[in-house]
Amino acid sequence: MAVNVDTSLRDELSAMEKAGTLKQHHYLSSPMDTGVTMEEHGKVLVLSSNNYLGLANHPELIKAAQDALLAYGAGTASVRFICGTFSIHKQIEAAIAKLHRTEASLTYVSCWAANTGLMPAIAGAEDVLISDALNHASLIDGCRMSKAKRLVYAHSDLKDLEQKLKDSQSARRIYVITDGVFSMEGDIARLPEIVALAKKYNAAIILDDSHGVGVMGKHGRGTAEHFSVEGQIDIITGTLGKALGGAAGGYVAGSKTLISYLQQVSRPQLFSNALPATIAASAMKAIEILEREPQRVARLHAITAKMREGLKARGFNPHDGESAIIPIIVGDTAFAIRMSQELLKEGVFVTGFGYPVVPEGTARLRIQMCAALTDEQIESAMTTFEKVGKALGIIKPAGDTLHSRASG
Ligand SMILES: Cc1ncc(COP(=O)(O)O)c(C=O)c1O
Repeated sequence: MAVNVDTSLRDELSAMEKAGTLKQHHYLSSPMDTGVTMEEHGKVLVLSSNNYLGLANHPELIKAAQDALLAYGAGTASVRFICGTFSIHKQIEAAIAKLHRTEASLTYVSCWAANTGLMPAIAGAEDVLISDALNHASLIDGCRMSKAKRLVYAHSDLKDLEQKLKDSQSARRIYVITDGVFSMEGDIARLPEIVALAKKYNAAIILDDSHGVGVMGKHGRGTAEHFSVEGQIDIITGTLGKALGGAAGGYVAGSKTLISYLQQVSRPQLFSNALPATIAASAMKAIEILEREPQRVARLHAITAKMREGLKARGFNPHDGESAIIPIIVGDTAFAIRMSQELLKEGVFVTGFGYPVVPEGTARLRIQMCAALTDEQIESAMTTFEKVGKALGIIKPAGDTLHSRASG
């Protein structure tokens, strides 16, 4: 007999609570910035947002959104092909294409919508999607929604990828799908090698550069710029909800043919409203500032290196890497959550992630850097990390290395 839905969902919630995996919302009463006001905690320093370039509360973005609100009103009240495309959509799509050095681009209300609107549109039963094991959930779901054969290669394992490419040679179309920057590890896809393999085996690359755009490369054009392989990535997806303003919105960038095709068949394009004009305008301003002020990207790179080195000097063992994500593995999920809570009590907001978001035994604190952080804020964050780390016994006095909590 069917069970009562609420009762059964409550049981599942209780199980999550017991396992220490229940997520809490923190309510902010100020704009996203390096410092925010959080209900119950007051002013806290943020090392946990994707506001990589510090543009989420930039006056020029706010003004651009206000102007667009006056010019276009609240929204399109329609899907794009009926009567829901504003001229500002054409402008933002041209700006995104220019940023990624592609012929064209198409916006969606989120990168989630872009990824789940892309794969089912371009990959059918005769095709194969070969996806990195640590790809973002939206890529995974996009693959699942397609009728194509799905293969998963071990994370960044090029031998495994090559084998899967060999095994797929009878398919009509082959796609290799990867994040640019992997959000939980902070590591970067091995793009030059992936490009070479894709060429050798006639595959197209789909790169989700949500954590790469605005961050990677000297000018923040993303992971392809970082590796000097711009123009060699067939399809790039990304978000406007992180470095490029932080509001919402996503996109697919690629050839004119691809974009024309998606306009015809990608289901979120056909059955869901367009990106609000306010967001198109603020994201366009973010791209303009990124192009105008490459020093923001340089600062982000410099302070990320400084934070990583500072944490190491204080006895932590952060992952090495070149993105703006610095994970510190602490092992146990409950410990990661506790450490995050203790940091918050001291005024530093860093989220702890545990199973099932990351594999069992690899729970972590994930620091995300922001170009707008001052030197004083960074110093104070490191001092707080040291204080909390010592209090919880995860570091010994400076110089000693981290004692992972994985085993106990
Ligand atoms: C790699 C990656 N792709 C896609 C998304 C989804 O982006 P959006 O918030 O625009 O839906 C995220 C968000 O966390 C992400 O990290």
